[in-house]
Amino acid sequence: MTQDRVVIFDTTLRDGEQSPGATMTHEEKLEIAEMLDDMGVDIIEAGFPIASEGDFRAVSEISKRSKNSRICGLARANFADIDRCAEAVKHAGLSRIHTFIGTSPLHRAIPNLTMDEMADKIHATVSHARDLCENVQWSPMDATRTEWDYLCRVVEIAIKAGATTINIPDTVGYTAPLESADLIKRLIETVPGADEIIFATHCHNDLGMATANSLAAVAGGARQIECTINGLGERAGNTALEEVVMAMKVRHDIMPWTTGIDTTKLMAISRRVSTVSGFPVQFNKAIVGKNAFAHESGIHQDGMLKNKETFEIMRPEDVGLSGTSLPLGKHSGRAALRDKLSNLGYEVGDNQLKDVFVRFKDLADRKKEVFDDDIIALMRSDTTNDRLKLKTLRVVCGTGGPADATLVMEIDGQETTAISQGDGPVDAAFKAIRMLHPNTARLELYQVHAVTEGTDAQATVSVRLSEEGIIATGESADTDTVVASAKAYIHALNRLLVRRGKLGDGADAKEINYKDVN
Ligand code: KIV
Ligand code: ZN
Repeated sequence: MTQDRVVIFDTTLRDGEQSPGATMTHEEKLEIAEMLDDMGVDIIEAGFPIASEGDFRAVSEISKRSKNSRICGLARANFADIDRCAEAVKHAGLSRIHTFIGTSPLHRAIPNLTMDEMADKIHATVSHARDLCENVQWSPMDATRTEWDYLCRVVEIAIKAGATTINIPDTVGYTAPLESADLIKRLIETVPGADEIIFATHCHNDLGMATANSLAAVAGGARQIECTINGLGERAGNTALEEVVMAMKVRHDIMPWTTGIDTTKLMAISRRVSTVSGFPVQFNKAIVGKNAFAHESGIHQDGMLKNKETFEIMRPEDVGLSGTSLPLGKHSGRAALRDKLSNLGYEVGDNQLKDVFVRFKDLADRKKEVFDDDIIALMRSDTTNDRLKLKTLRVVCGTGGPADATLVMEIDGQETTAISQGDGPVDAAFKAIRMLHPNTARLELYQVHAVTEGTDAQATVSVRLSEEGIIATGESADTDTVVASAKAYIHALNRLLVRRGKLGDGADAKEINYKDVN
């Protein structure tokens, strides 16, 4: 690999999925891994094998299926974690064990290890990982708040023990660009053996500087960026893959580094990750936000018509957005829908097309023009594998009394009906759902927004539920806001079921805390 090539290490399926409420099913993880592999991600961190049976199964299966990407699993600094990780990644053509330990004073205090005891542990665990796998990454968690001398000491120990990549995590999003560049530069200058290995940067976005900090680290000499699609991750998230990749592409004049990413696949994977994780992409998100290429003000539109470069630094096609956006209507056929889906980045098989076409026709009957955003919302509302499904809903509401809802839901293939009253139509519908599927989940968020304009626009509703420490989000769209709300609530309940592992897909709750070192 040349000196200007930056390795892209994607951790959407590990650090991203760790975000409360972002749990993906086994099938969804395999699908995202395949998309990452296809788009040219060098290394996929597929999970934390010892954390649960589901994680182990996902890392093993992704390892078996990987084509070009190296598959990595995470392990804490103990032999049991490392052995389990090695067992999961061994099927991959190219594999990696990533082992870590918190080295800052705050993190050292948790396992109550002295500096010397921790140094010995690092040597033993990295050596053990290296005995099992020829490619080993080691991370001093909270590196940016670790004492400089101690950081140099433990990095040197890890290199001597056989680590091939040293990752410098900014675990709490504390650093700033100049400091980030300087830290990597000084480590390379100071630590014996540093020129033999690759330095990686792993930034969190708590102060909104993850992208800048990652690129600055590369300027300082790092040659691996750890990132997630849409910046998915705990708290304010991780470095967004699409941002660092496009920054290096668009400003190659001042950031002369290359990646192996096919940027035309960015939009499709962004949408898919958003759908399966239940985390919407903010409208004004750089690169993949709904408004990232929209020019609405008069001055901008005028400029754009005269010369696109007036207000556009990259072409929509470069990130996988098609230039045309003619709406579909009720006379549009399957071929037109398939073509539109493909332009929007969705490649569907014949069976899926059949299902989407039925839902598209239903929508087109109620809505004169079906815009791109309606199609995207339709794709996000796929309920094929759900155990709970809304069949029908009728609500009577208005001034002068409670609302009455009659709701039919299919539960494991059986239709049941509930009639309930509530303080408004949404309350009545949610109560009916709870009568049919009793649960103690708390409604933490209920959000409605219109997908397009006009009174026949679809409403997208997001619902976030929490139950016994498990969080699940649901989303749905419909031209009727109350129906969209009921579907979103049911969607979130389906995800809660999956999260509890009740569907037997292995997506069980994480039992292990990252802070448990032993
Ligand atoms: O943020 C962090 O420190 C991590 C480590 C496990 C690398 O995700
Ligand atoms: Zn992290």
